[in-house]
Amino acid sequence: MKNFAEFFAGVGLVHEGLRSSGWNCVWANDISRDKQETYIENFGEADFWLGDIWDITKNPNIVPSDTFLYTASFPCTDLSVAGERAGLAGAESGTLNALIEILINKNITNSLPKVVMLENVRGFLTSHKGKDIEQTAQHFTDLGYYIDIIELDAIDFSAQSRPRVFMIAVEESLAKKTMKIKNGIQLFDDWWSYFERHPYLRSEKVKNIILKNETLNWALFDINLPEKTTIRLADIIEVDIPDNSTLWWNEDRRSHIFSQMSEGHKNYLKEMVERNSYSYGTVYRRTRKGKPMAELRTDGFAGCLRTPRGGSSKQIVIKAGKGQWKVRLLTPREYARLQGVRDSFKLPTNANKGYFAMGDAVCVPVIEYISKNILDHLYNEDNGSNNNIHSDNIKLRSVALYCR
Ligand SMILES: C[S@@+](CC[C@H](N)C(=O)[O-])C[C@H]1O[C@@H](n2cnc3c(N)ncnc32)[C@H](O)[C@@H]1O
Repeated sequence: MKNFAEFFAGVGLVHEGLRSSGWNCVWANDISRDKQETYIENFGEADFWLGDIWDITKNPNIVPSDTFLYTASFPCTDLSVAGERAGLAGAESGTLNALIEILINKNITNSLPKVVMLENVRGFLTSHKGKDIEQTAQHFTDLGYYIDIIELDAIDFSAQSRPRVFMIAVEESLAKKTMKIKNGIQLFDDWWSYFERHPYLRSEKVKNIILKNETLNWALFDINLPEKTTIRLADIIEVDIPDNSTLWWNEDRRSHIFSQMSEGHKNYLKEMVERNSYSYGTVYRRTRKGKPMAELRTDGFAGCLRTPRGGSSKQIVIKAGKGQWKVRLLTPREYARLQGVRDSFKLPTNANKGYFAMGDAVCVPVIEYISKNILDHLYNEDNGSNNNIHSDNIKLRSVALYCR
């Protein structure tokens, strides 16, 4: 069976992206009861384990053994450039270390998954000057996996800019069948020319990480670049919100946000108002030189969705044209659409929970792309045998973990 286990499952958007190509979720975990509720609403409850991932390290048998793929879109809080950047030493992003501990235990019982996929923000490439991701690659190498790191931006798949890093670790024999393996340190290795064929998928940052750690198990997937989407902000807007809806801001709030715009942005908004048709833009609140500013974005894309801690990070949308303009927050359904989620996906009835559910989720078509271009191929090459990794040839060195 094309089985996967979903760590840090949230409301299940990795699940959503994988199931379209026939993947079967055998088990999922998250600590949030709210997210679990939404997950169960959409996928049923049989396979959801609610609780702290560190508790699983004490009993790794909780995770079913016959699992081909583990996915982990672990918390980005300590990795995002906006945060304090404690990195993997931080309480939240450091939960990745619990997953590593689970894998080490699975290795002892010969029940490692064949493939592990991590997802996080680009800050994962740079936190602790790259040491966090290097340490992670070291753990996977110690466990006998071969690793590729690719970068994808939701902007190629949806109307949202959301750059993300995917580290995909593949069991040795499967990697040797399906990936281009790097052979140690060779200056004029054709592996590098292969690497450089797709600078869009693997940036200089990834290159530098590999150059600094050439003896780790690096390998490359041969994949095509995503085709750029034609979906734009106007396509995800809930057009049936009536003009008298209380979602639209009152005059005080509307004038306030206008007052925070630069002259250039005010003039652009006036141009939008004068058009004979409606157009949309998003507004970001930023502090520039100590002054709060409202910045208008009109290229048809929303910025990266976030969980609304503090309130101000919710995304604002402007509708302008036919002599008028209105402003409101994007709705949770619009958030979901920006994440490429079908409209039949059930969202929490409480709007704030909806923003939380979608703000730190993954963009579904990005996962679909990875599935179709990488994971399905790995599974097919494995002939569906789904044998677990045998650790006979794996020299498990003592692994220096950041523990709690
Ligand atoms: C980046 S989000 C993943 C969202 C998910 N991919 C989705 O589609 O909704 C990280 C998730 O990790 C969960 N989490 C944080 N700390 C955890 C812990 N100690 N154990 C288990 N899950 C945890 C959060 O509740 C959150 O849902």
